[in-house]
Amino acid sequence: MADISEVLLNRRSIRKYSSKPVDDKILNDILEMGCRTSTTGNMQVYSIIITRDDEKKRELAPLHFNQKMITEAPVVLTFCADFNRFNKWCRLRYAEPGYDNFLSFMTAAIDALLVAQTVCIAAESKGLGICYIGTTTYMAHKIIEVLELPVGVVPVTTVTLGWPAEHPEQTDRLPLEAVIHKEIYRDYTSESIGKYYKEKEERIDSLQFVSENKKETLAQVFTDIRYKKEDNIEFSKILLQVLEDQGFMKF
Ligand SMILES: Cc1cc2nc3c(=O)[nH]c(=O)nc-3n(C[C@H](O)[C@H](O)[C@H](O)COP(=O)(O)O)c2cc1C
Repeated sequence: MADISEVLLNRRSIRKYSSKPVDDKILNDILEMGCRTSTTGNMQVYSIIITRDDEKKRELAPLHFNQKMITEAPVVLTFCADFNRFNKWCRLRYAEPGYDNFLSFMTAAIDALLVAQTVCIAAESKGLGICYIGTTTYMAHKIIEVLELPVGVVPVTTVTLGWPAEHPEQTDRLPLEAVIHKEIYRDYTSESIGKYYKEKEERIDSLQFVSENKKETLAQVFTDIRYKKEDNIEFSKILLQVLEDQGFMKF
């Protein structure tokens, strides 16, 4: 059995997959482990859509900005916040669900994301490679159409899964002390920000990233290129409309 510390400390996202199939047995085992995750009130207000079919992957690909992992990975998993099933159960049992509001969406999204992360660790512990695909929340309205998600269901993240065909360098992390606060939040000063981001900023790949993008600082690569304000506003509007359409904004 894989040592959990090793799995967690040595992991990296995998974006290239071998042609070796991921059989149903191992996928089932991983999903079984994922579904052991704690959820709010043990309601399990999430669903997982498995995509293996090439045609379906081709439909999903443009909605994930044509990231090649969608068509190249043997398995694509879409994790959804899902109150549809629970609401149906309540109604069939003469209970009136009050889950058509934003808090309930957050509850279901948290459940779905926790399960997603457990599935990822379970997969990695079996030697499989995973990559999260964050475009799910940008294009949720279109993913809803392709996956035929009913009212009460919102996709919150996607994970591609397969046997690794690469072993990339591990990415950097901020030092632990940068993200840990003892007892109360200690706000950052210019000095501590400088100290915590120094290593990241001085990495060769970061410096390359800055010069390739003709920027002055690494932070500008994030604000001006990767995660721009105008895109964030546009996708926020779309996502809020999705929450409205999927019945989570009735308050
Ligand atoms: C919510 C979320 C969304 C992500 N979206 C993408 C994505 O769309 N495309 C991609 O290539 N990687 C994506 N990633 C992977 C991150 O880029 C990756 O986790 C990060 O760079 C750290 O690298 P590591 O996972 O190898 O440690 C995402 C990760 C998370 C947690």
